[in-house]
Amino acid sequence: MKCTVTAKESGLVNADILVQFFSKKEMKRDAGKVLAGLGVVASPDGDFKASAGEIAMLYRQASGKEASRVILAGVGEGKTAEDYRKAADSVARKTVDLHLGVLALDCSPIDDWAKQSKQKPEELAAILVEGVLSGAYRFDRLKSGKLDKEEKKEDKPKNIEELVLAGCASRLEAIEKGAGKGMIIGACQNRARDLVNLPGNHLSAEDLAEAAIEAGKRGGFEVTVFDKKQITDLGMGGLLAVNKGSEQPPTFTILDYKPKGKAKKTIALVGKGVTFDSGGISLKPAQGMDEMKSDMSGAAVVIAAVEAAAGLGLPLRVVGLVPATDNMPGGSAQKPGDVITTMSGITVEVGNTDAEGRLILADALSYAKKEYNPDVIIDLATLTGACIVALGNLVAGLFSNDEKLAESIFEAGQSSGEKVWRLPLWDEYDELIKSDVADVHNTGGRGAGTITAAKFLEKFIDGHKRWAHIDIAGPAFLAKGGSKTPGATGFGVRLLLDLLKGWS
Ligand code: BES
Ligand code: MN
Ligand code: ZN
Repeated sequence: MKCTVTAKESGLVNADILVQFFSKKEMKRDAGKVLAGLGVVASPDGDFKASAGEIAMLYRQASGKEASRVILAGVGEGKTAEDYRKAADSVARKTVDLHLGVLALDCSPIDDWAKQSKQKPEELAAILVEGVLSGAYRFDRLKSGKLDKEEKKEDKPKNIEELVLAGCASRLEAIEKGAGKGMIIGACQNRARDLVNLPGNHLSAEDLAEAAIEAGKRGGFEVTVFDKKQITDLGMGGLLAVNKGSEQPPTFTILDYKPKGKAKKTIALVGKGVTFDSGGISLKPAQGMDEMKSDMSGAAVVIAAVEAAAGLGLPLRVVGLVPATDNMPGGSAQKPGDVITTMSGITVEVGNTDAEGRLILADALSYAKKEYNPDVIIDLATLTGACIVALGNLVAGLFSNDEKLAESIFEAGQSSGEKVWRLPLWDEYDELIKSDVADVHNTGGRGAGTITAAKFLEKFIDGHKRWAHIDIAGPAFLAKGGSKTPGATGFGVRLLLDLLKGWS
């Protein structure tokens, strides 16, 4: 999708659809006048409440190539960034469903929106573009189209080809800048979604490493991939143990973005890269097991976040660390009760081979601390089903040993719309992961499953003072049925970028 910013009045722009955003208040106050000005004859009156994300489609007589379709897009009260993101998302979704190629947004009231939502015009422009990219996202690369009915084969655009931000005369520069940033973040987030949606037979650990290499080429940063031999030489016993039941080798990938000038901070981002989680010998039930192709969401988000940080040229060093393997029950798989030695030297009793994410993250966290001693370490992982029980599918679990870091991540969650809720790391929970035979046990029984997983990870940061763990098991992947696009969400990319921008 191309994005253009123009001073031209929106009603005169060549497009397939023209969008007018309205808050509830603006709907009452301005809609009549605006619609009449565009040549739309009737207003939808009470049929359209202007709730955030609600849309109504109207038509007008267009003389030339201007849009004859006019979408009214509600932003609710229009007081939060989320209101605008939702509106842009809905509009894009509709445009793609209708197979229309050129979408124009009337941005002339952007100063009002900025005031109401306490955002800068530049930020709002970025939010609108991110929203459009998110709503336009479709995962269709595995569809051959061979079985489509004739009428579907028509030459209509598959997706939005051009987004036009129109009526930008007073804020041209700021909107151009913001739109550029929105394009970077939105495109990276959609790349993360592609990786997550790719099933196990299309994305192995080696493929995931390859995706990181490609991100590095696009973003101009260094990517290093350790193969099984190097992983063995490093003594990454957690990653190797999980990989034992697999036919495919593990990988450990490092993405290292260094800014041109001096870096203000070094941030390590660690992402769980389990390309498919069958549970291993502690095999999962068949129901829903297919969704475990999404168990590398943390990895996908980390790769995307490093690429976006590089694209934005943030003055931070951002190091992404991605341990990757599938978790399979092959004949040589690790067995419940096995005791393994991680890279840190800490021994782990593997009570349940389905608690595999923490084993590969253990090594990656130790490696991050030892090799980079970063100012901040953040890991993201689809770690526990218990987190979905606790917080549902829209919110991630947050843990941190630093109050200020926890606060910043919470705030980034609020502003990015990718919300997190903090859970405790109290030492009382250590009792639950004690082992009789090893230093620690990889599961903690029925209660507090999300917390015991986090307490387990904490053992491997070697006293690092600013670490956070984000359990994205719920929001990373949505089953069919909701109002949102099913499948991968890329949850975490915008959250991390908001956080990183705050340190820039
Ligand atoms: N990848 C799963 C967690 C998960 C479950 C993510 C559902 C997304 C949706 C993880 O590896 C796992 O299996 N965790 C176990 C831990 C248990 C064995 C202690 C779980 O949550 O049941
Ligand atoms: Mn598992
Ligand atoms: Zn898993």
